[in-house]
Amino acid sequence: MSELRIGIILGSTRPGRKGDQVAKWVLEQARKRDDATYELLDLADFDLPHLDEEVPPSMAQYTHDHTRAWSETIDGFDGFVFVTPEYNRSPSGALKNAIDFLYKEWNNKAVGFVSYGAQASGLRAVEHLRQIVGELQMADVRASVGISLLTDFEGYSVLKPIPHHEAPLGVMFDQLVSWSGAMRSVRAGVLAAA
Ligand SMILES: Cc1cc2nc3c(=O)[nH]c(=O)nc-3n(C[C@H](O)[C@H](O)[C@H](O)COP(=O)(O)O)c2cc1C
Repeated sequence: MSELRIGIILGSTRPGRKGDQVAKWVLEQARKRDDATYELLDLADFDLPHLDEEVPPSMAQYTHDHTRAWSETIDGFDGFVFVTPEYNRSPSGALKNAIDFLYKEWNNKAVGFVSYGAQASGLRAVEHLRQIVGELQMADVRASVGISLLTDFEGYSVLKPIPHHEAPLGVMFDQLVSWSGAMRSVRAGVLAAA
């Protein structure tokens, strides 16, 4: 069986974003492991406009190159880590939009979360994301990590995560890899029944 592929999705595209530091830290920690291939997917590289496909994504009748490129990328992964900021108690619009673009590419795959924010380490964004991924038939793992702009960033600008985060991040990866592997069987069953 081929190695599991986990995509770490950087959910902020804002100029001056802090999310790039958080996502790179997640990738560094992931690459200490040997249980999957981990890759960073920066939403800024995909340059998605606001959803501009006429047919609902569940029909997979994509007409734009940017949608096809995003679809092919997400299709190739078994599981994901959504690295999300908290904007007005929710995930970023950029991340929600990128999620909305697709449907089947997310189905029956596992997902974990790393959030960051000023007030509650972005955990309220994660709670919203758990509702969203349920609609996409994704399996969201229990463990997550919340990074605080107040205590994990030096001078509110340079990421220096407290060592305490590494253990729960490891648990999140353990759960994510386990469920990403299990969901391959679910996808194989869905295809066989089609
Ligand atoms: C539009 C906007 C809304 C925000 N709302 C919240 C919020 O509700 N709760 C919170 O803890 N931080 C909030 N913040 C602070 C962000 O979490 C913080 O600026 C973070 O760095 C944003 O991620 P980014 O730098 O990767 O874009 C908000 C920031 C922005 C830009």
